[in-house]
Order: sequence, then structure tokens, then C-alpha cells
Amino acid sequence: MTVDEVKRVCVVGAGTMGAQIAQQVALAGGYPVRLYSRSQQRLDAAVRSNAKLLGKRVEKGKLDAAECEAALARVTTTTDLAEAAGDADIVIETVAEDRETKRHICQQLSAHARKDAVIASNSSTMASSFFADCIENEDRLLNVHFFNPALVMQLVEVVRGPHTSDEVVETCMEFVRRIGKTPVLVEKETYGFIANRILFIAMQEAFRLVEDGYVSMEDADLAVKNGLNWPMGPFELADLVGLDVTEDILSQGHVQTGEERWKPTAILTGRTAKGELGRKTGKGFYEYAR
Ligand code: 3HC
Repeated sequence: MTVDEVKRVCVVGAGTMGAQIAQQVALAGGYPVRLYSRSQQRLDAAVRSNAKLLGKRVEKGKLDAAECEAALARVTTTTDLAEAAGDADIVIETVAEDRETKRHICQQLSAHARKDAVIASNSSTMASSFFADCIENEDRLLNVHFFNPALVMQLVEVVRGPHTSDEVVETCMEFVRRIGKTPVLVEKETYGFIANRILFIAMQEAFRLVEDGYVSMEDADLAVKNGLNWPMGPFELADLVGLDVTEDILSQGHVQTGEERWKPTAILTGRTAKGELGRKTGKGFYEYAR
């Protein structure tokens, strides 16, 4: 399938990533998007959150009110996966980072989506090879990895699996451009792809410096923001991404590469064990007004 043949998109999973990816595809790409979740509540929350985010752009004069309304209307929701995926040309899955959950969704997509539809996984910890045996015609399967917040972050990594066809890679690279993002092509599957591999190892360094008493968390964040010009320090960023997600990325890195440098340490695991998961729970490394 060429990018010109892409007319409809389906996003599976309406969490933080799925909701904003769906909205970005509708806003910048102009595509009609079916957003699927098992939970109607989650879908309603996604629609509310997107309306609020785009509404702010209208208030700031960055987005035309009519364009905003049209972009919001292009995202429609459903709790029926067959209906969501049935007529899509590209399906982007963003469900929980759990291998069995993703494999189950891939099997269902293989059954319900068209046989030539591109199946793209937004997984950050699982290369598409993890699901290749779940998909009929696995040459249409690959990772298309967005960054949080997806309506803002420019980068999307397109990751070629050993099974992915050149045409599907090309279509996805161009699709990413058409939805207003900057794609990079990762030619071979590797843990963390590019950006997470660099970012999370850097975050581990910050975690260890604080754990070992060299610097406070606040000063480590100040150092990284002022000395390296990161928009957020590593502790603030971990709170944005979610400490559970951060721990999962690190521990999967440890399991999949066997390298000690990925192993999550107590500064993180102590907090996740207490349910302190960052902004979403009101407390992580820092506290947030709710
Ligand atoms: N969701 C959507 N939009 C958001 C947002 C959110 N959570 N937070 C802020 N924004 C939007 C604002 O609405 C604003 O939009 P506008 O310019 O169109 O009005 C824009 O972002 C700038 O926001 P603010 O002025 O409030 O704040 P900042 O200038 O401080 O920017 C930030 C906020 C964009 C989050 C910036 O701090 C940043 O870029 N941080 C780094 C984020 C990052 O590194 N992400 C990657 C994480 S790793 C990852 O995602 C990989 C995955 O596999 C885990």
C-alpha cells in the first residue's frame, strides 16, 4: 500500500499515548480516525482531554476554532475492535506494555483488519518481532514509536523488523511526515530503539548520582536543564512519562539485553512499590496539585 492509498486510520488503546496519537493523525494529517478502547470511560476521557488540549491552542490563537472542531470530529470512538479496525488502512496499537496483551490484540487485528492493512505497534519495549507470529502477512508489521506528549513531541521512530516489507517502511515514513511529525528510520530492531536507548541510560546516571549522595534530585534536574538545555530534568521527565513506565522500560532493558546498566534501582522501585507513579497519581519524585 502506498501512502496515497491511506484513507482511514485506527488507533487501538485510548491511554495517554493512544488518545493524543489519534488526535495528531486527525489534526495534522486530516485523516478520519477510529479510536478503540475496551472501556467507554477511557474513550470519553480521551475525547475530553483532546478537546481541552486543542481548545488551549485556539485560546492562544495557534489554531483556528473551525479547524479545531473539524479535527475533534474526525476522531470517532468505539468499544468494538472489529468495527474500529475493519476498514482502516493503517492500524496503530498503543495498548498496555504487556506481552500477552499485545499478542492478543495483534491476533484480533489479524482477524479483523484488512489483510493488506499496515499494523504498527507503538511499543517502546517490544520490537514487532515479538508479535510477528500473531499476524497473517507479517510483512505489514513494524514499530511506529511516538513520544510523550504525542501532540507535541516531533519525533517518531519507524522501526523495520526482519519481516517488514520495504513498501510498508516507505509508506510509514511518508505517513509520519503527513501527520506533521519527523520520522527516523531504525534499520534493525534493537532494545530501546534510538531515543529511549539514549534517554533512559542517561536517566539511570542521574538516578544513581542522587542515590549515591552526590547531588539532590532538584539540583540534578537543574544541572541537566541548565547545562544540557533539556526542557525537563530527568526526575521531572520520569514523573511525566510515569515511574511505572520508566521502571518497565529499564527492567525490560535489563531482561532483554542482560546488561546491568538497565537494572532499575531503589530510588525508582521504592516509589513504584508505593504507587507513586508520577504526575498521573499526583506524586512521583515530586508532588503535583491535583
Ligand atoms: N499533553 C499534551 N500537550 C502538552 C502537555 C501534555 N501533557 N504538556 C504540555 N503540552 C503542550 C502545551 O499545551 C503547549 O502547547 P501549545 O504550545 O500548542 O500551546 C506546549 O506543550 C508547551 O507547553 P508549556 O508551555 O505548558 O510547557 P513547556 O514549554 O514546558 O513544554 C513539554 C512542556 C512539551 C512537555 C516540554 O517540557 C518537553 O518537551 N519536555 C520533554 C518531553 C520529553 O522528553 N518527552 C519524551 C519522553 S520519552 C517517551 O515518550 C518515550 C516513551 O517510549 C516512554
